[in-house]
Amino acid sequence: MASYAKGLEGVVAAHTSMSFIDGEKGILEYVGIPIGELASNSSFEETVFLLWNGRLPKHGELDEFSHKIRSRYAMSPALEARLMALPKKAEPMHVMRTLVSSLGLDDARPDVTDVPEVREKALTVLSLVPTILAGFHRYRQGKPLIKPDSNLPLAENFLYMLNGQRPTPTMAKAMDVCLILHADHGLNNSTFSARVVVSTMSDVYSALTAAIGSLRGPLHGGANEGVMVMLNAIPSVADVEKFIQAKLEHKDKIMGFGHRVYRAYDPRASHLKVLAKQLAHDTGNSALYEKSAKIEEIMLREKAAKGIYPNVDFYSATTYHCIGLPLDLFTPCFVLSRVGGWSGHILEQLSDNRLFRPSADYTGPHDVRYTPMNKR
Ligand SMILES: CC(C)(COP(=O)(O)OP(=O)(O)OC[C@H]1O[C@@H](n2cnc3c(N)ncnc32)[C@H](O)[C@@H]1OP(=O)(O)O)[C@@H](O)C(=O)NCCC(=O)NCCS
Repeated sequence: MASYAKGLEGVVAAHTSMSFIDGEKGILEYVGIPIGELASNSSFEETVFLLWNGRLPKHGELDEFSHKIRSRYAMSPALEARLMALPKKAEPMHVMRTLVSSLGLDDARPDVTDVPEVREKALTVLSLVPTILAGFHRYRQGKPLIKPDSNLPLAENFLYMLNGQRPTPTMAKAMDVCLILHADHGLNNSTFSARVVVSTMSDVYSALTAAIGSLRGPLHGGANEGVMVMLNAIPSVADVEKFIQAKLEHKDKIMGFGHRVYRAYDPRASHLKVLAKQLAHDTGNSALYEKSAKIEEIMLREKAAKGIYPNVDFYSATTYHCIGLPLDLFTPCFVLSRVGGWSGHILEQLSDNRLFRPSADYTGPHDVRYTPMNKR
């Protein structure tokens, strides 16, 4: 008898050489390199190269990889027309899912599962998602779209296309660090979704579309928006204790806390905490940071014994707010980064594929006779 693990907890369902997590010790490494080292020294482009190739690039290789990404920033006229046909009130995660799915329509060979070719397709998606997101945000505001600047790194170019002006080096760096920290995280729900889809030998666009659908859930990537909603609902630091205690008494989950894998402080959260504090100070948002720090203090007091600590989404909310991103772009920004991780997993899956097909434990009746409609 196969054993049943609700939520597949503890089930090992894939091999990966991309990220390693030790949830007890609070360690996250990409290809063996601690996440903090990458956040301090690397760039998002370099991190994606690392994840896809299992090693850091040499000088010429990074230039070539970055050039490839930057040369694919621009939307095709067909894609831009699809974007401009969307309802302006659409939720940006629905837009991301819809337009990433639509990229398969522009591809003459969407169904190819040959790894080198899929890698090229994934690179195109990675390059285009910031343009799609920035373009939609400007379109819904009735502002003209900004053409990408292929001289800029992905994070900086995204903020440029979003706001129509170059971000300060601090903001560009902060955005880049956020992308590095969110790029990959083992067999999380959205990554698993991507691997499940591609394991049927379906196409890369379908797999990425499924992953976006998974990520938007409030128990996964959607939690960063939930954190901001919570912070906005608390008038001041003095109100935090009462607010959190009331939620805990109602057995409500506090967004940005807890994790299926970590029973210690999420190492991405410790890095983001430092970043959030600095950015909040620089942008006059210290009150927001102070509210976050107070929530953390209470949660550690109440829940650390149960292994519930801040996760990646907790301080990313304050960070994104200080970068100037509107609330409903927080989770789509997760997409910009995680396309790197999802794609790496798709490539790993295709390199050594076996169809995912778990079993269900049937709990219904047996030997039931069909009842005609007039006898029901
Ligand atoms: C991430 C998450 C879904 C993990 O879920 P899980 O592994 O299935 O854990 P469970 O939801 O079963 O929680 C286990 C226990 O911890 C408690 N718990 C977990 N996260 C909590 C939180 N954020 N706030 C308060 N209590 C929490 C649960 O109430 C439960 O308590 P119980 O044993 O008394 O019933 C969960 O922690 C959560 O919903 N967090 C908030 C959303 C979030 O930040 N998601 C982003 C993850 S990166």
